[in-house]
Amino acid sequence: MAKLLIAGGAGFIGSHTTLLLLEAGHQVVVLDNFSTSSPESLQRVAQLAGSSASARLCLVEGDIRDPGSLDQAFQTTSAPCDAVIHFAGLKAVAQSVHQPLLYWDVNVGGSQRLLAAMERHGCHTLVFSSSATVYGYPDRIPIPETAALQPINPYGHTKAAVEQMLADLASNEAGPAASGPSRWRIARLRYFNPVGAHASGRIGEDPLGPPDNLFPFVSQVAVGRRQRLKIFGADWPTPDGTGIRDYIHVMDLAEGHLAALEALWNEPPQLLTLNLGSGRGHSVLEVVQAFEAASGRPVPYDLLPRRAGDAAESVADPTEAHRRLGWRAQRDLATICSDGWHWQSLNPEGYGSGPA
Ligand SMILES: NC(=O)c1ccc[n+]([C@@H]2O[C@H](COP(=O)([O-])OP(=O)(O)OC[C@H]3O[C@@H](n4cnc5c(N)ncnc54)[C@H](O)[C@@H]3O)[C@@H](O)[C@H]2O)c1
Repeated sequence: MAKLLIAGGAGFIGSHTTLLLLEAGHQVVVLDNFSTSSPESLQRVAQLAGSSASARLCLVEGDIRDPGSLDQAFQTTSAPCDAVIHFAGLKAVAQSVHQPLLYWDVNVGGSQRLLAAMERHGCHTLVFSSSATVYGYPDRIPIPETAALQPINPYGHTKAAVEQMLADLASNEAGPAASGPSRWRIARLRYFNPVGAHASGRIGEDPLGPPDNLFPFVSQVAVGRRQRLKIFGADWPTPDGTGIRDYIHVMDLAEGHLAALEALWNEPPQLLTLNLGSGRGHSVLEVVQAFEAASGRPVPYDLLPRRAGDAAESVADPTEAHRRLGWRAQRDLATICSDGWHWQSLNPEGYGSGPA
């Protein structure tokens, strides 16, 4: 059993990963300020895990920018922390354009404080949530990890900056007077488009306000919370004219984190950089049709002009993740849609719907 600190563990990806870690027998300390999530997600994680596993879950409500909260999270038990998974951050591209300083403060400043706390508490194993957004307009499809990093918005810049901070740490020598290699074991995981929900339908994605991403928008239209879907761009150079993305089931993503942790623990200190995607691209219209089939509900939509900053296509080359971790996304678009619909139909207002 390892002791893990999960920063941002109440959020969409964090809650699913926390559940998997508890089921795998680990002790989990979640540090979260609930700025974009609800404590209800962790209550449901605890119920799904069952009473004996949930006894290994502990919550510290606090901000990663606050050294006191970080110290408290590292010191919840006397056992040393074996690794940190760092999900905490802000991820809305449009908001990042309007509030770049907030994004640099939370995503970059917060990561720096978290890393400093890891140093203080002698923990040098980290899995970091990066994003395919660091590739900007990709110069080839599918996108390998060696593609140029050319983010095109403040959110992407903050992810690329943290990636650089981690590369600097990983190449640093161990301590001021030492000459050995770095002690840091770091995985930078570049997620493509995380979607879907736990098969129970009890935890899932619950964005605050109008969703920034396609998938929660589609499911909120299907459940009647929003009237029509807006599709930006029907004249892209793709078979049906709508944009193509690589959608990855959130449980596949959670399993990728466990595989990354195992690799970091079992191999010498290293900096791993991996795409977590399915390697399959689906257009917006394919997603709409698949969701209509899974839900039995219509998803009416309007075709609008392209939006600045969107790319025609973004699909991962996941070969390296399979080679290094033995991991591969298992769940297809139909499963993504049926699990996503299960969550949305049981919880039409998200965690605000009350007990599901
Ligand atoms: N969901 C996506 O489409 C996607 C894609 C690529 C990368 N990512 C990255 O993965 C990570 C998790 O994303 P998610 O979809 O689960 O988002 P989310 O908003 O659901 O979860 C983020 C969690 O971090 C917490 N948090 C935010 N700022 C914090 C702070 N200062 N201190 C403590 N906790 C804080 C939030 O309350 C929330 O629980 C993020 O870093 C995001 O940038 C997400």
